[in-house]
Amino acid sequence: MANEVQTITVKVRRADPDVNGGEASYQSYTVPLEPGSTVLSVLRHITENIDRTLSYYRSCRIGKCAGCRMVVNGKTRLACTTAVTGDITLDPLPGYPLIKDLVVDLSAER
Ligand code: FES
Repeated sequence: MANEVQTITVKVRRADPDVNGGEASYQSYTVPLEPGSTVLSVLRHITENIDRTLSYYRSCRIGKCAGCRMVVNGKTRLACTTAVTGDITLDPLPGYPLIKDLVVDLSAER
């Protein structure tokens, strides 16, 4: 029996304030689920293999800078340390000006 690659659906809220008046919509991607997958690794897979136009932020990748905060299945999480075990829905962090897709302007809190 061949090894089947398990896939998940990643639903991402997309919006660009400079396009279509900033109108938002969700876009779904089918992504292979690897052992040890995190939200950040899933997003990297999407931008490297499926859609280069998707925007997200990451810096330290070890849970220290908090710059990768976003809403994962309705809860605020760090993308770089949050494990993925099934389908996920991603939204930008609320309460901050939206720059694009999952990127918000956190400069006010620095
Ligand atoms: S990239 Fe720094 S906490 Fe996630």
